[in-house]
Amino acid sequence: MAEEVKVNEEVELKKPEIEEKPVTQNDDDAESGEEQPLDIGEHYLVRRSDENWHPAEIIQTRYSNTDQQYEYYVHYEGYNRRLDEWVPRGRIMSSRFNMDGSKVNDKTWKERPPVVTDLLSDSTDRKITRNQKRRHDEINHIQKTYAEMDPTTAALEKEHEQITKVKYIDRIQIGRFEIDTWYFSPYPEEYGRQSKLWICEYCLKYMRLEKSYRYHMSECTSRQPVGKEIYRKGTLSVYEVDGKDYKIYCQNLCLLAKLFLDHKTLYFDVEPFLFYILCEVDKQGAHIVGYFSKEKESPDGNNVACILTLPPYQRQGYGKLLIAFSYELSRREETVGSPEQPLSDLGKLSYRSYWSWVLLEILRDFRGGTLSIKDLSQMTSITQTDIISTLQSMNMVKYWKGQHVICVTPKLVEEHIKSSQYKRPRLCVDSGALRWTPRRHNKVGKK
Ligand code: ACO
Ligand code: ZN
Repeated sequence: MAEEVKVNEEVELKKPEIEEKPVTQNDDDAESGEEQPLDIGEHYLVRRSDENWHPAEIIQTRYSNTDQQYEYYVHYEGYNRRLDEWVPRGRIMSSRFNMDGSKVNDKTWKERPPVVTDLLSDSTDRKITRNQKRRHDEINHIQKTYAEMDPTTAALEKEHEQITKVKYIDRIQIGRFEIDTWYFSPYPEEYGRQSKLWICEYCLKYMRLEKSYRYHMSECTSRQPVGKEIYRKGTLSVYEVDGKDYKIYCQNLCLLAKLFLDHKTLYFDVEPFLFYILCEVDKQGAHIVGYFSKEKESPDGNNVACILTLPPYQRQGYGKLLIAFSYELSRREETVGSPEQPLSDLGKLSYRSYWSWVLLEILRDFRGGTLSIKDLSQMTSITQTDIISTLQSMNMVKYWKGQHVICVTPKLVEEHIKSSQYKRPRLCVDSGALRWTPRRHNKVGKK
């Protein structure tokens, strides 16, 4: 940590724009009619950005000198913490609510407060399959409740939430993008209390002040990630960066990534990892789009530790490209691999989408003979477990005499391929454009 602070040290000491105000206020304040903050832990209806009111808990308060009022960090009940946000008082309904939607101390309140519409709301009496339910929950970012978890997971989850409750850094500027952040990231104290951080898109140095950023951009000589370019196809490049050789760059990358990842905890111990940075290249330089990290040696057979597409680039196929790339590396290593658990909601959707498409294409093109789950695993470097769960989700596997057996007809494959749920990847890896040979110690967990 200490090393980290030093590297990004800035000389100017400026009062942050947003300051916390002492919670206790003296009577004079009350008499002068100054606004009293709402209490932490209370529940209110809060207007979300889609204009719907949703029950929410107040997690933290702060006083904005700019707006001369308190702001509230709220968690929307039942929703992924990514949607937690700072809101002004004007978006909070004045009376409190119980979480069942009834107004506190007001028995006449009958209506449930309007809730963000979701796929289930118009289909309450329609029977849904477990797979549909799972997909629905993932797409709508429904979190498991503590009661649904085993006691150890629940305890760990509570502790994690306690530490990472408030996301102080709301926004980052990186290259031409200003991006809203999703989660807490452990930037050193004096950076972590800023509402906006400025980040050099090439060397990933972070700064508190626009002034320092502008100065840095005029000085910084990097125009691409550190490390070695191992893939180039059109405007897309991938760089391999060893955490041991470029510790600061990799730590800065992990801190940046944590702003969009809830559960990953790798920030400072980067040496055991390799990082694969995907960039879009233009005249100015190689702009970071996303990355994945990978343990140099994985006892669990993981071929990805963390994976991220920066929000401005999401939903354009880069995530599945990174996933395909990770499997291409495993193929070269002659191993199979699987992403590190737990997967996030978006991680699950992306992996399932990738796995389904890869398997459907093979099944569609397969002519005659027999094909086992092991064969599929060898062809794709996807683990047998991931193949089985993917085939199960498409109703293509049967358990027969103690084994999982692929059970498909060309018609079923064609139906799946045609359905809107499965889409041809927009971007594909051209293995001919990959200049990479595995290191010897990568060859663990052979096929
Ligand atoms: N809603 C519904 N479906 C989605 C969404 C969404 N918001 N985002 C992705 N998907 C699904 C879709 O099926 C999509 O394919 P489609 O657009 O063809 O339908 C598929 O996932 C992947 O889309 P891509 O465009 O290839 O992926 P993207 O570039 O958006 O990256 C990623 C996916 C990396 C998971 C991204 O959402 C991200 O960075 N999220 C934040 C970090 C994170 O959660 N990482 C995974 C953690 S798990 C781990 O690290 C091992
Ligand atoms: Zn720089």
